[in-house]
Amino acid sequence: MPTLLEVRDLTIEFRTKAGIVHAVEGASFNVERGEAMGLAGESGCGKTTTALALMRLLPYNGRIVRGSISFEGRDLVPVPEDSMRAIRWKEMSIVFQGAMNSLNPVQRVGRQIAEPIMLHEEAEPEASFKRAGDLLELVGISRNRLNDYPHEFSGGMRQRVMIAMALACNPKLVIADEPVTALDVMIQAQILDLLERLRRELHLAMILISHDLSVLADTCEQVTIMYAGKTMESGKTMDLFTDPKHPYTQGLVGAFPDIRGPRNMPEAIPGDVPSLISPPSGCVFHPRCKFAFDRCTKAEPALTELSVGRRAACFLYPQVTEVPPRPIAITEV
Ligand SMILES: Nc1ncnc2c1ncn2[C@@H]1O[C@H](COP(=O)(O)OP(=O)(O)OP(=O)(O)O)[C@@H](O)[C@H]1O
Ligand SMILES: [Mg+2]
Repeated sequence: MPTLLEVRDLTIEFRTKAGIVHAVEGASFNVERGEAMGLAGESGCGKTTTALALMRLLPYNGRIVRGSISFEGRDLVPVPEDSMRAIRWKEMSIVFQGAMNSLNPVQRVGRQIAEPIMLHEEAEPEASFKRAGDLLELVGISRNRLNDYPHEFSGGMRQRVMIAMALACNPKLVIADEPVTALDVMIQAQILDLLERLRRELHLAMILISHDLSVLADTCEQVTIMYAGKTMESGKTMDLFTDPKHPYTQGLVGAFPDIRGPRNMPEAIPGDVPSLISPPSGCVFHPRCKFAFDRCTKAEPALTELSVGRRAACFLYPQVTEVPPRPIAITEV
């Protein structure tokens, strides 16, 4: 069976009055069936843009410049919009960033869950409402709440509703974009537990997006670290925490408050994410990197395999030497 999701060299731009925003460049990662992958990086690094591109839901001024999004062996990039409808929500769905605050305040929650089911599954109203009740119970809310309005739910419960909606058509992959941001720590843990339970019970693959690495620590087997649209490092979550290779990951891990221990003030990485209209030359991280040397300002390090499953893009590590071109065969005269 092919890998569930294989993203290669995904490159996305936005056209704006101020110029072209190079939001994502050369993103490459895999998500296996039933696996949770984390996508981390500071605000503005291209996490949401990557997620929207996977769903083929980029805003009108965004476009995929190159690369492939192979889902069960089929590249979604050239798929026409009407065929995308058979994939979006049914095979792959998303809990949008901030979505729990965009439920319609004047419509009962049950109706908001049932309507997309009627639309995507062409189900009868009665069956759709029954499914909405089942979905609510799946995410830990009594079906007696189907007739309630969003304001009658807490933030954590509204997020559960959004997760229920993402599961409505039994997708194989769910993307959760900042699913616990703006929730308090206790509720964060409950939502993460819920996602983990759903992953196991429904054998779902997930992409969890967060600017906060600690959110991904217990949930994701693999993590991809993005900075200014580029992949800086990827590997097993535990390896990244215990032995971060890229200086950016080292900064993020240093900026990671230990949720188990006393709350120390995290040491932030000095400086800001650069403008993606005119990103820095060489390695995009060099202006903030305490190890940067001359080469980093001029050339861009390639994402290189350091050990099995661990990749980093940094000149501190040996770059893969190019395979020398094959010698030209000497033709007999
Ligand atoms: N529609 C758009 N038009 C122009 N630029 C955009 C658009 N959407 C996003 N961007 C830019 O693309 C870059 C990546 O943004 P994106 O929202 O993907 O980041 P993010 O990692 O999800 O950040 P956050 O953690 O704040 O959610 C940013 O520079 C952002 O300003
Ligand atoms: Mg985002």
